[in-house]
Amino acid sequence: MASLEIEGGVRLKGQVPSSPAKNAALPALVASLLTAEPVVLENLPALADVRTISQLLERLGAELSQEPDGATRVQVRQVKSHEAPYELVSTMRASVLVLGPLLARTGLARVALPGGCAIGLRPIDQHLKGLKRLGADIGIQNGYVEARSSRFKGCRMTLDLVTVTGTENLMMAAVLAEGTTVIENAAREPEVVDLARLLEAMGARIEGAGTERIEILGVPELGGCRHRVIPDRIETGTLLVAGAITGGDVTVTNAAPRNLSALLAKLEEAGALLEVGEDWVRCRGPERPSPTDVITSPFPGFPTDMQAQVMSLLGLADGLSRITETIFENRFMHAAELNRMGARIEIDGATALVQGVSHYQGAPVMATDLRASASLVLAGLAAKGRTEVSRVYHLDRGYERLEAKLQALGARIRRIP
Ligand code: EPU
Repeated sequence: MASLEIEGGVRLKGQVPSSPAKNAALPALVASLLTAEPVVLENLPALADVRTISQLLERLGAELSQEPDGATRVQVRQVKSHEAPYELVSTMRASVLVLGPLLARTGLARVALPGGCAIGLRPIDQHLKGLKRLGADIGIQNGYVEARSSRFKGCRMTLDLVTVTGTENLMMAAVLAEGTTVIENAAREPEVVDLARLLEAMGARIEGAGTERIEILGVPELGGCRHRVIPDRIETGTLLVAGAITGGDVTVTNAAPRNLSALLAKLEEAGALLEVGEDWVRCRGPERPSPTDVITSPFPGFPTDMQAQVMSLLGLADGLSRITETIFENRFMHAAELNRMGARIEIDGATALVQGVSHYQGAPVMATDLRASASLVLAGLAAKGRTEVSRVYHLDRGYERLEAKLQALGARIRRIP
């Protein structure tokens, strides 16, 4: 298993581009199941999760190829299998996104029930409840969701809680339904809006994406389209924190700062100096961060996917910060690893009490999930001495060449195969 070795203490400086968003690319690829015509995605991040979903789509009948300009063409002329097997769903939960589109296109789907994961239980009851309201007949057999339906019938549904992939799954199910579907308490994440844009380009009729009420007027069929995936706000945020935590000066280009306001506000409260353009952000780090409190919440609130990285930053603040995680019940696994680097973090229920220390010490640490890995890399960049972050396959699921980008900013980081 590969690891990353970091010699800390370099102030990062320079400019790096952000990559396309993982969490927008995955549903965009899956949406190709809704039509026999080609969906061309102009940009996709080179990530393990993108390869996993591509593999799943190929099993279901997709042909994937590269266009001369580097775009990826996905075409599902015919659905050849209706099954998302456990070995793929268990490596990547986002595989459950095929449920809605498979049912909408073919009336049949068999998808392994994802179990819990390193950050929480993560049930998919809201996905299933919504699909049932649209008319699906759903049972759980031997660890699989087995679903059948005739053409979905538009309906009104109110989600019990805000779910990102749940909203995406139901939106993809409803685009081919007969009549109008209204999803209340929908997720407002930019990735949901990006999927709606793609579906509209395929001929779907959707209103309200980006608000808590999405209205979908079903159409009999969808066609192909060309689509450009939005920049990855979490990768952008992680790179900005790398600038902040090292007291450096980092500019991220090809970014979408409009999707980052909650994070940018916290970086400023922590003492970073920001300059924000239309598609770039420059972050100059403070000598020492100021403490501040953070509460994660659905968009436009502070993203849970940035909680770990910001904990690394506030772990070096001049005082006490409180970080409250409201989305996932077990997303503080990085705290214990940060403590091994000298942090003083105590967990009290859903809140981490982060008493800032003057510096971290390099140490061998272990990544437990994607964003936790990023937080350890960030701490390693700021630490005195050498840090080795093991199990970086977690990181590779969601960051495209992170170490190369950090190297370009001057970091002393290398991959040990
Ligand atoms: N939930 C339920 N029932 C459901 C669905 C969700 O109880 O049917 C709960 C979850 O257990 C969680 C909360 O609702 O407590 C929110 O979960 P959500 O469904 O929004 O998460 P997700 O769609 O599974 C996506 C991202 C995650 C990101 C979350 C929250 C993708 C592929 N994944 O997951 O990304 O943390 O939204 O913003 O879009 C990551 O990239 O590192 C990552 C984990």
